[in-house]
Amino acid sequence: MSDPTTPTDAVAGTTRRHFIRGVAAAGASTVAAASLFEAPGVSDLLGDSVARAAGAPTPFADFRAVAASSADAFEVPEGYRAHVVIKYGDSFANTDGTQLRFGYNNDFLAFFPLEGKPDEGLLFVNHEYPAPFFQHGVTRGADKSVAQLELEQYSVGNSVLHVKKDAAGLWQIVSPSPYNRRITGKDPECEHTGPLADETNHPRVGTSSKGSLANCSGGITPWGTALSCEENFQDYGSDPATSAYGWNRLDPEYDSALWSKYGWVVETDPYDASWTPRKHTALGRFRHENTAFRALDGKRFVLYMGDDVTNAGVYKFVSTRPFIPGRRAHNLRILEEGTLYIASFDHSRREFAVDGDTTPITPTSGVGYWREVLVTELEDTNVRIRRAVEAEEAGAWNRHFATNRPEDVEVDVDGTVYIAFTNNSGVKDRHGSIRKLVEAGNDPTAVGRANEFRWVDYAGGGDRGEDKPAGERGFSSCDNLVFDREGNLWVVTDISSGSLAGTPGAARWYRYHLNNAVFMIPRSGPNAGIAFRFANMPAESEGTGPYFTPDERTLFVNVQHPGEETASRGVYGDVSTYTSYWPAGNKTTGQNPSTPLPSLVAVTKLPPNAPPEERRPNVIPPPPPAPEGRRPQPEPGRDGAKPRLRVADVPRRRAQAQLLRGGLPLELTVDEPVRATLVLSAKLPTLVGRGRRARRKQKLVVLGRATKSLKAGRTELAVKLSPAGKLRVRALRGKDVTATLTIEARDAAGNRSSVKRNVKLV
Ligand code: FEO
Ligand code: CA
Ligand code: CA
Repeated sequence: MSDPTTPTDAVAGTTRRHFIRGVAAAGASTVAAASLFEAPGVSDLLGDSVARAAGAPTPFADFRAVAASSADAFEVPEGYRAHVVIKYGDSFANTDGTQLRFGYNNDFLAFFPLEGKPDEGLLFVNHEYPAPFFQHGVTRGADKSVAQLELEQYSVGNSVLHVKKDAAGLWQIVSPSPYNRRITGKDPECEHTGPLADETNHPRVGTSSKGSLANCSGGITPWGTALSCEENFQDYGSDPATSAYGWNRLDPEYDSALWSKYGWVVETDPYDASWTPRKHTALGRFRHENTAFRALDGKRFVLYMGDDVTNAGVYKFVSTRPFIPGRRAHNLRILEEGTLYIASFDHSRREFAVDGDTTPITPTSGVGYWREVLVTELEDTNVRIRRAVEAEEAGAWNRHFATNRPEDVEVDVDGTVYIAFTNNSGVKDRHGSIRKLVEAGNDPTAVGRANEFRWVDYAGGGDRGEDKPAGERGFSSCDNLVFDREGNLWVVTDISSGSLAGTPGAARWYRYHLNNAVFMIPRSGPNAGIAFRFANMPAESEGTGPYFTPDERTLFVNVQHPGEETASRGVYGDVSTYTSYWPAGNKTTGQNPSTPLPSLVAVTKLPPNAPPEERRPNVIPPPPPAPEGRRPQPEPGRDGAKPRLRVADVPRRRAQAQLLRGGLPLELTVDEPVRATLVLSAKLPTLVGRGRRARRKQKLVVLGRATKSLKAGRTELAVKLSPAGKLRVRALRGKDVTATLTIEARDAAGNRSSVKRNVKLV
């Protein structure tokens, strides 16, 4: 397809920030490869686990952090607008007449600009795995009809969506469009490239495969293509009597015990809907999570990748061909030939003494090198390397190669590689961490024992403590990462839905975190290193693929697997048993019971002068509107009923120093929206009367007060001391005293409930 907006090469325009980023990173290392560690601000990269100076926060990153939430809602701070761009099953079309439907469990996404069109572009999205329960209700491979198997087969792969901002500033799908496309689990026939693309010597791999599946995250290239990563390929062709998929009933090639057709990195040109996707065997076959590149003009191209398996490794590919800006046909062959390497760390896993701990018992920095992966190890990369390194030295895999499960890998503008190690229960790492890796001489092509890289754990997950503000308690189980143009690091979390607070398997170390979320970590300034909570995900979902538009006014986020635990607890067809109603409804408030649907959300930063009506919704779904001219009505069925109020986690004893710093934390659960008033008071000796008649008497003194509008569900909050309350507590000088916390909740109809708790201040 030819179109004037199709780039001849990705470095063509300044709007294409992410392509420019790769080249800029390369530029730094070409010019200053040897001296980079001496450059100001860079020498402490490895000495300081907090942050280095970068730019000021961007307008997008200037927000008031939201508190953790367990509500079945997508929530962003005030001043941002969130809306669903497309959801599972929605139709769109190509101009050639092909009717298309958006797939299930959208994961990776990337925005490809169209030159000269600032408010228009292409979204490349992939669809990781189907959900048989929600799609048709049959959850055993052997029991499905062919039509049910084909519905699942169609729902994975990739979508290319032409999107454009409308007059109201909302991103909409342009349909029909010559760009719109679906790649499914069956179509088109993908072409294999590289050393194993051969029917004679590698018949299990062969030269082609039907479509693409298990697409988790991905990446982009500087020549304007998308890379989609096939992750859990082993799930689709196992025994249909015991597996949820059983696709080998459709075709034996899905069976990974017999064939090696899936588990590759797949390259697609989003600008050409007729392009044949290419699976690159030179990049190895493992549970590919994503890719991140470093491209130097005229030099060999480097692609970093993670193997998303507990105790698996981090890889990089170094191409044989150089990257030559402007020569797209040449660059499109870069991933066909080169050498793959696996990272060997002096100590690869971050280990803890106790589950949920935040201070590791193993080193938090060290060195390592890149070990070559042989062509004979490419087909089943993890298994074969493991066998080889263990044959050389018993225990070598776990000491040097096994990691705490690499999810995203991203490259900063200075060439530093950031790796999200999500968690690893085997070494009691429940919260994960982000590790930085700096190549020897900052040369991305550096390999072998003589060229050691250096690594340091940059940010660890886990609870920072109840004395911290509600939006700053910390992340857990980091997954995808993205930098904004000022260098702030955005992190999404992926606590497995079965361990999240509110599910039967809830783990106590994730309680503080509640639902999965999006965080922003400034890397400079007074807040450097602190994770600020930006968005809350709906019940049992994870946010994936965060991606900014070039102008950074919009952040796109995929909401994957809302209500995932329903499959083990719900009754198909009875939506009241589903654990999420998102995005059309909200299970927590009982609003609009409906089937949960994975969806792509756009979050837009509004200008400060945006009129109030445009400032909403910052929550999906928006609460039902109050009838005009009348005061808000109580929810149906709640008339006359008092709000049910449950208080948890009020400490029985609170150190006065802690109270002064962080106030009194607690957790409130209400069954309907309320206005809550919380008052902390104590009887304290107080001077009553004047002059000679002044006497000390025990008098009730208010130490702190908070008033908050709460949605139905659980909320964590803290009652902070007032300035006068602080003076009174300081005057106690460690003398024990009992304070009383009174909580009153009032619903929209005016019904009230209240509870009291005593707290010993010591
Ligand atoms: Fe699909 Fe690697 O998470
Ligand atoms: Ca992921
Ligand atoms: Ca994940």
